[in-house]
Amino acid sequence: MGNICCQDPIQTSPPIIIEHTVKAGRVSIVSTASTAIKDSSRRVVSCIYDYREARSGKKFRKGDSLQIYNEIDDEWLKVLNLSTKQIGCIPKNYVTEETTNEIQEWFLGHTSRREAERLLMSQETLTKGLFLIRYSENKETGYALSVLDFDDKDDFHVVHFQIAINQNGILIDSSVYSTLSEAINSYKRNGIISKPCQKPQPHLWDLDVSHKKQWELSREDLQLGELLGEGNFAKVHLACWKNSTKVAVKILKEQSVSTDGLLAEASIMKQFRHPGLLTLYGVCSQTEPVYLVVEYMTNGDLLNYLRNDDGNKLKLSDLVDMAVQISSGMQHLESKNLVHRDLAARNVLVANNNIVKISDFGLARLLQENRYNDNFTSNIAYKWSAPEAIFFREFTTKSDVWSYGIFLMELFTYGMMPYPGIRNDEVIRRVRDGYRMEKPDIVPDDVYNIMQMCWKEKPKERISFSELTNFFNEYSE
Ligand code: ADE
Repeated sequence: MGNICCQDPIQTSPPIIIEHTVKAGRVSIVSTASTAIKDSSRRVVSCIYDYREARSGKKFRKGDSLQIYNEIDDEWLKVLNLSTKQIGCIPKNYVTEETTNEIQEWFLGHTSRREAERLLMSQETLTKGLFLIRYSENKETGYALSVLDFDDKDDFHVVHFQIAINQNGILIDSSVYSTLSEAINSYKRNGIISKPCQKPQPHLWDLDVSHKKQWELSREDLQLGELLGEGNFAKVHLACWKNSTKVAVKILKEQSVSTDGLLAEASIMKQFRHPGLLTLYGVCSQTEPVYLVVEYMTNGDLLNYLRNDDGNKLKLSDLVDMAVQISSGMQHLESKNLVHRDLAARNVLVANNNIVKISDFGLARLLQENRYNDNFTSNIAYKWSAPEAIFFREFTTKSDVWSYGIFLMELFTYGMMPYPGIRNDEVIRRVRDGYRMEKPDIVPDDVYNIMQMCWKEKPKERISFSELTNFFNEYSE
């Protein structure tokens, strides 16, 4: 195992100059870039993020014009790069029609209010006026302008303006503009906005186009690096795939689960695509030990993160944002009828910008039921488990809701061990008799009320993940 050397992202090219006009409710953009060289029989799109094809090393640069050869499926395109004359495959979310807003540096498309706040607040240098424009969350047409501002205590925060569009033009804060660029220029002149915020690279759901369906990966393509963590069933290493992409490799300890069971589960997990769920890229299952190749999360597991210095800096609004991301990830699992069985801060991973994702979904059942494990109960995390899961093995979305309530307690106490001072076996008995964890001073009252709704004795009476998402989405201090 050596040092891994994944390549740095390639440089970006200068932006294209664009004009905007109002058309039927949405703003359309007319590119002034030359279209002379394009073959009109095939659609030409613009590359909006740098992308490097791992198998061939071919590079697509932001601003390149790409002629579509064919749509491979609903996520990948085969294209001719008109700038380099190379043919390659690129994810669809890396390109856009040249006449859409997506090409603009400041346009963030379907970004929620909370995501806009997270993005603006996590820019490398915070300056008043950093801004972005996104689709409005609650209006069918129209946009929102989100801007970084600071108050008299010099604390940064984000303000949002609704942008309505009608036949008169573009309306922001009761002023009318004929084009979006006119509105942006006027806001710039008045000092309300300055620079667009840095657009994040879209998420890669597959390592490359060939591994979308074929997810048995070759061990030789993985260069293992430092140990990131070790549990009862697996070690996790940082790794580099084909010298191009950083990944995490979960190396299962021999005989911890049956390979057949794992592969069946992995084929289901591979189809789960949600920003709140850790992406599974593939497996190496031909020989032992089995590898699970997953997305690398720079800040490791949430429990350790909360307990260290970085975690201590998190504000209540950051914790609320993390609570939303996890409940919406759980909502997605629920919609696919998957029960996690082991939701806890140790099974949540943290990337940059306070992005959090649920890991190990689907794995807990295999670990609990594996044939080498005589004692079923030995793997259950009692402090996180609903009574019916402990006593009757009734694992449902509602038992996941119970665990989510315990997870909230870990989150809002910066990693406190649940039921402090009470032993595992004692917890089971006391909870069965109606005892519930008390409220630490640091936890806000309304968040504690929500935890109690997760811990109703009857599973049916517990709050749902969609209600939890709504509650935290609307939460303000
Ligand atoms: N520790 C366990 N899994 C990890 C991952 N996917 N990324 C970073 N650290 C981890």
